[in-house]
Amino acid sequence: MDNASAKDSLRNYLAFLKEAGFLYLTPSGKKSGDLSTHQRAEQLEALRASAADCTRCKLCQGRTHVVFGEGNPNADLVFVGEGPGADEDAQGRPFVGRSGQLLTKMITEVGLQREEVFICNVVKCRPPGNRDPEVDEMDACEPFLKGQIALIQPKVIVTLGRFATHRLTGLDTPITKMCGHPYLYGETTLIPLLHPAAVLRNMSQLPGTIENLKRAVEIVRSK
Ligand code: URA
Repeated sequence: MDNASAKDSLRNYLAFLKEAGFLYLTPSGKKSGDLSTHQRAEQLEALRASAADCTRCKLCQGRTHVVFGEGNPNADLVFVGEGPGADEDAQGRPFVGRSGQLLTKMITEVGLQREEVFICNVVKCRPPGNRDPEVDEMDACEPFLKGQIALIQPKVIVTLGRFATHRLTGLDTPITKMCGHPYLYGETTLIPLLHPAAVLRNMSQLPGTIENLKRAVEIVRSK
């Protein structure tokens, strides 16, 4: 990217953030380091509100709810999935169907509570018939995901499945080769995991996936 397009892209992103209601944007662009818990929660709510009537991509046409994400605004661990399915679309909450039940079980298995972490997706609206999210849809939704991560500033991001993993690492290495290994998202450690739906299809993957999640929790505790 040349200088002029980098500036344009930054200008657009800043305009988006302003439109989305960011109140405490610091000149460095590092938004949340000096935010109080209350301010951070308030900012996340502003971002959620700005997503509520989003029409940035075609997924808005078929959705029942925008599934923004949920959890602790101060979470050390953020889970990023692919996109809402039918149950999530109906309830407006991430990971509440069969995959979600497995994810919740995995979270408790490693000694955490679902309420302690933050859970969201690359796209916030359900792709019709649970098809894969398309690049233009992921692009359109990216400011929401980036905004969530920038505000929460987790110690570790756990990506669930290949879409979230490839999107946030910029790599296209097979997900099975990436699982459990540390990558960087900016300055944040990122650990890819198999998507719970993939684990449900092959439960022999569950113990290894829990081990990988334990690794992520150990990194959180070591920071
Ligand atoms: N699968 C996802 O990737 N996200 C959800 O919220 C539910 C299922």
